[in-house]
Amino acid sequence: MIKKITQEQAWQIRHNVMWPEKPFDYIKVDGDDRAIHYGLFIETKLISVISLFINNEEAQFRKFATITTEQNKGYGSTLLRHTLIQAKLAGVQRIWCNARTNKSAFYQKFGLQATDQSFSKGGKEYLIMEKQLSTETT
Ligand SMILES: CC(C)(COP(=O)(O)OP(=O)(O)OC[C@H]1O[C@@H](n2cnc3c(N)ncnc32)[C@H](O)[C@@H]1OP(=O)(O)O)[C@@H](O)C(=O)NCCC(=O)NCCS
Repeated sequence: MIKKITQEQAWQIRHNVMWPEKPFDYIKVDGDDRAIHYGLFIETKLISVISLFINNEEAQFRKFATITTEQNKGYGSTLLRHTLIQAKLAGVQRIWCNARTNKSAFYQKFGLQATDQSFSKGGKEYLIMEKQLSTETT
């Protein structure tokens, strides 16, 4: 089941999965209090999280994470698909993300395309990927 969650719930999974060695506050981002956070649950257990930051007709999704023991089972794909649909329903025309470069093939499966913008942060390589939602039929 997918539902909206609080920023605090998102922070817990982000920290455990992405930066467990950093202080807890490291995974918080500006605007978390205004973002929409979605979580995928199995029964009552939170498995995967993603945060959607809408800015008029554009939106960025950030801090997408599935708990380590439940990765590669399709949960993240289900959650990302849900998020793209919700963004479109909210009137978003362009959605984008800072993708870890080694994950770009994963995002391509959802119709995101690499832009020519890339950067590195915290020793990791990133690529900006985007998708136009306005022209889609689904
Ligand atoms: C990125 C992330 C959120 C994906 O979540 P996930 O729940 O593992 O996603 P899925 O299981 O849907 O897909 C992951 C892979 O498993 C594959 N997969 C999906 N369902 C599957 C299934 N039933 N059986 C086997 N493999 C499956 C997918 O095709 C995908 O393969 P790919 O990475 O080679 O493209 C997760 O890997 C994660 O938390 N990573 C660490 C944090 C991170 O890097 N976040 C993203 C920053 S850009």
